[in-house]
Amino acid sequence: MRRHMILATAMSAVALMTIAGCSSRADAPDAKGAGGFAKDSLIGVSLPSKTSENWVLAGGLFEKGLKKAGFTGDVQYAGASAPVKDQQDQISAMVTKGAKVIIIGPADGGQLGTQVKAAHDSGAIVIAYDRLILNTADVDYVVNYDPEKVGELQGQALLDGLDAKKKAGPQYIELFSGSPDDANAAVFFNSAMKVLKPRIDDGSIVVGSGQTAIKQTATTGWKAETAQSRMDTILTSTYADKPLDGVLSPNDSLARAIITSVKGAGKPIPVVTGLDSEAESVKSIMAGEQYATVNKDTRALVTKAIGMATSLAAGEKPELNNTRLYDNGVKVVPAYLLVPVIVTKANAAKVYADDPLLAPLTK
Ligand code: BGC
Repeated sequence: MRRHMILATAMSAVALMTIAGCSSRADAPDAKGAGGFAKDSLIGVSLPSKTSENWVLAGGLFEKGLKKAGFTGDVQYAGASAPVKDQQDQISAMVTKGAKVIIIGPADGGQLGTQVKAAHDSGAIVIAYDRLILNTADVDYVVNYDPEKVGELQGQALLDGLDAKKKAGPQYIELFSGSPDDANAAVFFNSAMKVLKPRIDDGSIVVGSGQTAIKQTATTGWKAETAQSRMDTILTSTYADKPLDGVLSPNDSLARAIITSVKGAGKPIPVVTGLDSEAESVKSIMAGEQYATVNKDTRALVTKAIGMATSLAAGEKPELNNTRLYDNGVKVVPAYLLVPVIVTKANAAKVYADDPLLAPLTK
């Protein structure tokens, strides 16, 4: 009996040690940052290639913001020709240089497993920025604008724009989605489709080309020229004898490419959605061409990511507000999600009032 008790006690001690051991492992978010690190430590920021204005803005803001917070920043972009390889190499170099936190906007969310594991093995904390890193336990946090909300706003803006036309009979639309290697793309598209589906089902909205599956709508690499040529093809095959009333576009650079295509075909501009508040799209919205964009203020997202690093340096757990959405295939990554805002000509001046780049465009 006594022997059993000793054995049981020894076994629970082993179990406790195992649990204690586990809690310091990389996949236990609570333990991350517990020790803190020096305030002037190296913080790596690895961004994808500059496919849209938000990434261009983010790099500059990270440089300035990290410096202001007292950190040593190392901000890198992937090039256009081999973004995945570039980013893998850059993250490995950041690990070698001893970065304490590595903030990553993945070029391809599924191709960084080896590098983030090396980062973790070296003791660094990994934060996914704007896009999720997939299929790895070695990502600690994600900071983003709520991508479900982004898609819902895009779907609703398309409906609102179509309804404002008060057209009798079915309205014809086309659907575009982002790059399949970006985890945001499917969330944006599926969330927008949830909003559009009842109207597609009741026949008041018709996808003229019949291309409603995400694979058919995808835009690899978020390349504007790819979206433009797909729109060209669809216009020729489907819209010779009917109007195109609306287009679901997942971001601004694709929206403008779609508008260019429609203009080139000599057709009236349909209701086109977007994302990112790119300056050219804000101008287009004010000129009555692009219908809407979604504002994901890059300043706030960068501030939040740097704030996470600051908390971690102080040995504190960063503020999080979502532990549901971001299942990356291996774990649910704890997240801080900011709230995106829809922008049309009607509210642009108000939304951009405190943005020195965009406010003048709305006057
Ligand atoms: C970002 C968008 C951006 C797109 C293309 C997405 O992951 O959330 O803001 O437009 O990538 O760069």
